[in-house]
Amino acid sequence: MGTCYYPEQWDFKLWRQDLKRMKACGITTVRIAEFAWNKIEPRENEFNFDFFDCFLDIAEEEQIKVIFGTPTATPPAWLTKAYPEALNCRKDGVKFCHGMRRHYNYNSPKYQELSARIVERAASHYGKRACIIGWQIDNEINCEIDEFYSESDNLAFREFLKEKYEDIDCLNQAWGTVFWNQTYNQWDEINLPGITIQNTSNPHQLLDYIRFVSESAIGFCKMQSDIIRKYKKPEDFITTNGMFGNLDNHKMMDTCYDVYTYDSYPNFAYGIGRDALHSEDLNDRKWSFNLSQVRSICPHFGIMEQQSGAGGWNTFAGPAPKPGQMLLWAMQSIAHGADYISFFRWRTATAGTEIYWHGILDYDNRDNRRLTEVAETGRRMKNISEAVGSDFEAQVALLRDYDNSWDSQIDLWHGEILHKSELEIFKASQLTHTPMDIVYLLNDTETQELRQYQVLFYPHPEIVTPEAAEVLKEYVKDGGCLILGCRAGQKQKDGQCVMEPMPGLLSALTGTSVKEYTYVGPADEEVQFEWDGKKLSAGIFNDILEQVSSESVVLGSYTGNYYAGSPAFIKNTYGKGTVLHFGGTFTEETVREILQFTGIREPYKNYMILPDGCELCVRKKDSCLYFFVLNYGRVSQEIELKKTLYDMETKENLTGTVVIEPYGVAVYRTSLE
Ligand code: GAL
Repeated sequence: MGTCYYPEQWDFKLWRQDLKRMKACGITTVRIAEFAWNKIEPRENEFNFDFFDCFLDIAEEEQIKVIFGTPTATPPAWLTKAYPEALNCRKDGVKFCHGMRRHYNYNSPKYQELSARIVERAASHYGKRACIIGWQIDNEINCEIDEFYSESDNLAFREFLKEKYEDIDCLNQAWGTVFWNQTYNQWDEINLPGITIQNTSNPHQLLDYIRFVSESAIGFCKMQSDIIRKYKKPEDFITTNGMFGNLDNHKMMDTCYDVYTYDSYPNFAYGIGRDALHSEDLNDRKWSFNLSQVRSICPHFGIMEQQSGAGGWNTFAGPAPKPGQMLLWAMQSIAHGADYISFFRWRTATAGTEIYWHGILDYDNRDNRRLTEVAETGRRMKNISEAVGSDFEAQVALLRDYDNSWDSQIDLWHGEILHKSELEIFKASQLTHTPMDIVYLLNDTETQELRQYQVLFYPHPEIVTPEAAEVLKEYVKDGGCLILGCRAGQKQKDGQCVMEPMPGLLSALTGTSVKEYTYVGPADEEVQFEWDGKKLSAGIFNDILEQVSSESVVLGSYTGNYYAGSPAFIKNTYGKGTVLHFGGTFTEETVREILQFTGIREPYKNYMILPDGCELCVRKKDSCLYFFVLNYGRVSQEIELKKTLYDMETKENLTGTVVIEPYGVAVYRTSLE
């Protein structure tokens, strides 16, 4: 267990006392230095290591371990004054000013040089310190802003495109520039997507722009991790805290880090303001969706920042965690695969933009209930420490890929259907207690990795590449069950539509073809489809399907709109496996039925029966299963244990009805032998 500590923000006299108090409640690790450039290089090329040497001496004396951050998320004022080209810009070219953070751009050669230098100096000086166990690069890559419009970015974008296309005619082809007379003759005619009428640019250019931003971020982090690797102790890890947009987090992980960490702030579900996230009815439980994505980047991850107080900033305000919620949220992270929890932050800042982003302690520095809850979390974590390194268990996965996620940011139809369907699939898996993974289809994903799932939901892959189609074919041929929704296979990698019936490259697999399609507008009647005597919603977009294979069977047909009676849901047999092609968008109810139909709903019902309000996660190690039951509600919930299970908290064997307290967590173990 750890916490985030800012020695530079506190009187030196507090340091030792703080570390002692941390230890007393079970905190053994601190992350430091990620914003403290000036403490190492207060003026250009003037280095002084005393400040952190002094802190690290005390940490070593107090036996506290340290994760050391590189400070590149906050370039100093002397730097941006001397080299304004290091600053990121708005789309209209106006430079961001000093005063916030992440105001730099990844592509400025000067910023790269100065960043490389501070990282080199810090890593070479501190790299062998005994208390250091790991390095965090920058802070929250692409948080707050994930768009870049400086002159350096513009130049780097052209280089990125030259390397990708080599021939400008290939770029014109991929971007479809013949449309609206956008053809380019020279590379220097091309710019970053700028301010345009209705603020919309060429969609294929936008897709490449996002890829460019991602590559720029990864390059910047790789530059840092290469340097740290030269100086760190072999056993120390390199990480960053994520996970943000316009970024291939998987590639960043594989290229730069040894382990991935995530910052978990479930309280966003309850806040108000510009940054409040609307989690619909799952509220803080929806963080399990994010944690499942993190797990796909790194199956055994850490939480670098686990919320420990009220949230508050100039754009967001949230309540204090209720008694029990901090522990619940920490356990939510652990249940999903975290093996390290570090609370953000030790003490609430008394100055600056984040005076309302509360840490464990308040400004008054007295012991409080949140500190007691941290100690309680530490005690509970010790009780389950044997589960460290266990694997999350899931028979079903939601399949995603970066091309489609990014395309859905640009294409309104795609965005709406994908967002809705993914949320409904997640909700159904949560509420039926069917643990689900999120898996990314990457360039190097092999069928073998997918075969561990009996069922894959790939709701709306508009972009389908020949490589992806091949992996999916193999998966189904080997016996997997693939579930697709509307609009699958409509586009190719550059985002252009294919001149073939949908689902394009997937049609051999689905045994279907899309005859016609329509968005179901707000003024349209709600369309349903009938399946096995049940009428279910066909969602907000409908593909009218046709069978093209003798192996296919129509399972359900539309009951409304001008296509009533046409196939809405077709099952195809392919090799040893099955494809279910649904013409609509998914609702929780439809997904519940599909989970039942495919025989994977509620796989642990022989062990326990849970109410909707509790989440079930299962981790497995050797021959042991660990069941995490999490109650997100304000009221207690009853669960029914169908087998005798070992309660890791009370150390008793239990069976029958058990009460889970409000915001309570229980961890049970069973042996499969
Ligand atoms: C994270 C960030 C921290 C702090 C925290 C609370 O996004 O890494 O530095 O800002 O949120 O807002």
